[in-house]
Amino acid sequence: MTTARRPTKRPFPLSKVYGLLEPGPVTLVTTVRDGRPNIMTMSWHTMIDFEPPIVACVISDRNYSFKSLMTTKECVLNIPTAKLAKQVVACGNSSGRRTDKFRAFHLTPLPASRVAPPLIAECYANLECRVIDASLTGRYCLFILQVLKAWRTPSMAQPKTLHHLGRGRFMIAGRTIRLPSKMK
Ligand SMILES: Cc1cc2nc3c(=O)[nH]c(=O)nc-3n(C[C@H](O)[C@H](O)[C@H](O)COP(=O)(O)O)c2cc1C
Repeated sequence: MTTARRPTKRPFPLSKVYGLLEPGPVTLVTTVRDGRPNIMTMSWHTMIDFEPPIVACVISDRNYSFKSLMTTKECVLNIPTAKLAKQVVACGNSSGRRTDKFRAFHLTPLPASRVAPPLIAECYANLECRVIDASLTGRYCLFILQVLKAWRTPSMAQPKTLHHLGRGRFMIAGRTIRLPSKMK
């Protein structure tokens, strides 16, 4: 039996695999603790169901946002465009333990309709969410969220969202093409 050769393939470090399975747009998660709103950058999320929309996301228990979400069971997933790239990185490199990120990074809170944490006005879309399953937080820091209410800015037809590739690299969403699809 001959061994198949892979002349064009090289082993790829397991530590970088997540950058290949690039998830959806980077989000800014807002939570509230003791009446004080906070923002955390989050890119590890995935859709689980269409309607009601269910989303799974990983929020490390080392982050200030973890306990806020565990306690209140409410958050908003705010979707920024590339215009907010600096704030996205700043919110991911600082903690709500010490920093009022709305004030420090010049972001504007707007009241949400179904949850206590605010929307971020500058983001093109905002998803008000409730935790419906926290049973895997102990093992994987995995929260299952149901989107209760969604908002988007109609003037931003083709939003240039940010997609995290790892280690400070981001892809900016580009052209949209339309192909036949059985999916909604
Ligand atoms: C682009 C980017 C994506 C990130 N994605 C996640 C993520 O999916 N889950 C997570 O727990 N932390 C993620 N982080 C790290 C948190 O945003 C970071 O630890 C932050 O300081 C936590 O803020 P907090 O302590 O105020 O909650 C990301 C950071 C960056 C810059």
